[in-house]
Amino acid sequence: MAISDSRKLSARTLSLSILSFISNISTASAALASTGLSVNFNDVNYYISPFSSGKVDFKEKALSKVPSVLGFKPVTVVQGGVAQKDVASLISTWTTTDDVYQAGFSGAIFLAESGGKKPRMIIGRSPSKKGPSDNIVTIKDTKIPSGPYFLEVSTGSLYPVYRLYEDFTGSFVESLIPTPDGKFQTLSAQTPGSASLTIGVPSRLYFTKTDDKPLAGIRIGIKDIYRLAGVKGSNGNRAWYNLYAQSNYTGPAVQRLIDAGAQIVGLQKTSQFANGESATSDWVDYHAPFNPRGDGYSDTSSSSSGAGASVAAYDWLDIAIGSDTGGSVRGPAGVQGIFGNRPSHNLVSLDNVMPLSPTLDTPGFLVRDPQIWEAANSVIYGKNYKSLAKTKPKYPQTIQTLNFPTVANTTAQSILLQFVESLAKFVGGTVVPVNLEGEWAVSKPAEAGDATLSTLLNTTYATIITKEQTALVRDPFYKDYAASHDGRRPFVNPVPLSRWAYGDTLPESALQAAYTQKSLFMNWFNSQILPPVSDPAQCSSGLFLYPQSQGSQNPRNRYRNAPGVPFGFSAGRISVFAEVPDHVYPLGEVASFSQITQHDELLPVGVSIMASKGCDGLLTKLAQDLLAAGIIKVPKAGGTLNGASILMRRGLEDAHDHQ
Ligand SMILES: *[C@@H]1O[C@H](CO)[C@@H](O)[C@H](O)[C@H]1NC(C)=O
Ligand SMILES: *[C@@H]1O[C@H](CO)[C@@H](O)[C@H](O)[C@H]1NC(C)=O
Ligand SMILES: *[C@@H]1O[C@H](CO)[C@@H](O)[C@H](O)[C@H]1NC(C)=O
Repeated sequence: MAISDSRKLSARTLSLSILSFISNISTASAALASTGLSVNFNDVNYYISPFSSGKVDFKEKALSKVPSVLGFKPVTVVQGGVAQKDVASLISTWTTTDDVYQAGFSGAIFLAESGGKKPRMIIGRSPSKKGPSDNIVTIKDTKIPSGPYFLEVSTGSLYPVYRLYEDFTGSFVESLIPTPDGKFQTLSAQTPGSASLTIGVPSRLYFTKTDDKPLAGIRIGIKDIYRLAGVKGSNGNRAWYNLYAQSNYTGPAVQRLIDAGAQIVGLQKTSQFANGESATSDWVDYHAPFNPRGDGYSDTSSSSSGAGASVAAYDWLDIAIGSDTGGSVRGPAGVQGIFGNRPSHNLVSLDNVMPLSPTLDTPGFLVRDPQIWEAANSVIYGKNYKSLAKTKPKYPQTIQTLNFPTVANTTAQSILLQFVESLAKFVGGTVVPVNLEGEWAVSKPAEAGDATLSTLLNTTYATIITKEQTALVRDPFYKDYAASHDGRRPFVNPVPLSRWAYGDTLPESALQAAYTQKSLFMNWFNSQILPPVSDPAQCSSGLFLYPQSQGSQNPRNRYRNAPGVPFGFSAGRISVFAEVPDHVYPLGEVASFSQITQHDELLPVGVSIMASKGCDGLLTKLAQDLLAAGIIKVPKAGGTLNGASILMRRGLEDAHDHQ
C-alpha cells in the first residue's frame, strides 16, 4: 500500500486493518517452531535437537544441583537393564568411545530398569566434571536410547545432543539434521570459525548396529548432486540453488543408506555440475575445499571434492558419498590418501541425482575404514553387490599392471613396487605388466579397423558427457531460468561452459559413434583383458592395477590455462568405459618440498585396482585382508596418513577437540 493511499484511510478501515494485522500475528505464532538451541557446556559446543526422543518422570528436586540453561539440564539415559553398580564404569567408557558424551552429562542419570519397577530416586551429591555421581533416577524401560540428552525440566522431554564442529576445510555447503518425518532441515547453529559452516554430529551412543541397521550411527556427508527430501540442492551452481525448490523426496540410493541407519550431517561441495575443476581459478561460484594433507594447499581433485577433503580431515565423519563419472571419486581419494570406489556401472538407481552422464555415472564412497566401506557398499548396491566379507575369497593370481614403474627411482615408485610385490605374494600370483595398445593391436575387434585405443577413444568421453549433460541438465536449466528471469541466462563456471560448448559443435551422430566406441572397448576389455570367472569365490580372472596418486604437488595457488575439453584415453578411463569396479587404496606418503611452507611435507601415494565387472565385493574384501596382513594401513584423518595435525590447526586440535 502506497503512503498516499494510506493517508485516505478512515478511522474505521484503520482499526479493521489493525485487527486483521493482529489476527495475522496469531496465525503466525501458531506456526512458531524451535529450530534447536546451541549451548556451550564445559568448553564443548553442543546443539540441542528440537525433536524430542520421549519423556521421563522425575521429581524436580532430584535435579536441583544439575546446571541448567534456558530450562534445559544435561542428563544421561542408560538403557538395557544395566546394574546400578556398573553405571560408573559404563559412563567412563562412553567418554572415550563417543566424542559427543562428556562426564558433565552424568550429573543426573536415568537408569532404565527392565522389570518395570516403580521409579526410584537416589538423590546424590552434586555433579562434577570428573565422572558419574550417584545421582541416579531409575525409570521404566522406554524406547529412549542410551546417551546424553538435554532434559526440558518443565515438560520432562529429553532432547538429543549433537556436538558441533567447524568445517574448516570448507567441505560442506549445508549442515543438516534429520526431521521426524524423514526429511532434513538446516542445523541452526554457528560456532566460531572463519567463513566456515558448523556441522553437528549426533552422539554415537544413540545407535546400535543390527542386521537391519548395519550403518546405525555412521556419520555421512552427501555430495551436493544427490537430492534429499526437504533440502534444496545446488550442483555447485548458485543460480541453480536459488531457482529450484527443495526436493520432496530422497533418491533411492541415499534412502537405502538412511534406512540402514546412516546419519546424514550435511551436503558437500562438488565441482560445478560434477565436471572436473581445479582449484582455485575454475571454482567461481563456490570456493574449492582445502586438501588437509601436506601443506594444506594441494588441489583436492574433483568432482567429489568436499567428500575427499572432509573424510581426510575429520575424525568425526565416517564416510562420504561421491560420484564417479570420469574419476570424481578416484581422484579425490588418491590425493587425499583415503579409500574410494568407482563401482561397476548400474548397481543402483540414480533417480533424483543430477546426471553428468547416465551412461557413465556411478555412486561411490570415500572412506578411511574398509569395514565401513564394505557395510556401505552392501547397503547401497543391495542385491547387485556380491559381498565376500564373510567368505575366504580365492584371489585371482594374475596381477596385471599398467603404467607401473620398472625401477624404484623415487620413494613413490618404491611404495608402488613394494605394494605390487606384497600383493603378488599375498595372493600367490605373478605380476604381468600390460601393454594395452599392444594387446589391442593383436586382439582388437574387426569393427575397430586400424584404430589404436588412443585414436578410437580420444573423444568418446568428452562426447558422451557433454551430449548427455547438455540435454538432461543444461537445456532444462536454461529454459527454466529464462522463464523466470526475462529470458536471461544463468551464470555457469568456465569448465562446464567450455565442455557444453564442445558438445554443441557435435552432431547427434557423434553421440551414437561414441556409444559404439565405448561398447567396442568394453566388450574387448571384458573378454580379452579382464574377463570374469564363474567361481563366485574368485569372480575376476585378474587384478588390474595402475598408479593413482604419486605424491606429486598440485598447488592451488597457481594461475592456469583456460579450461579445455577432456580428450584422450588414459588408464583412468578403462573402468569408465568397461563398467568395471575401480577401487583406490592409499599406500603411503612421500615427502616433497613445499614452496609455501619451505619445508618438506608429506603427500599421499595410492593405487587403483580393478576387477571384472560385478566383482566389487572382491576388491573391498581384499582391502580388509591386506589390512589384516599388514600390507596396507587404515589412513588417519589429519595432515598426514598417520594423523599428524593439519598444519593450519596445529595447537587448536589438542586444546579443543580432544577434550
Ligand atoms: C514430488 O513432487 C512432484 C511434483 O509436484 C510429484 O509429481 C511427486 O509425486 C512428488 N513426490 C513425492 C514422493 O511426494
Ligand atoms: C632413474 O634415475 C636415473 C638417475 O636420475 C635416470 O638416469 C634414469 O633414467 C631413471 N630411470 C627411470 C626408469 O626413470
Ligand atoms: C583428440 O581429439 C582432439 C580434438 O579433435 C584433437 O585435437 C587431438 O589431436 C586428438 N588426439 C588424438 C590422439 O587423436
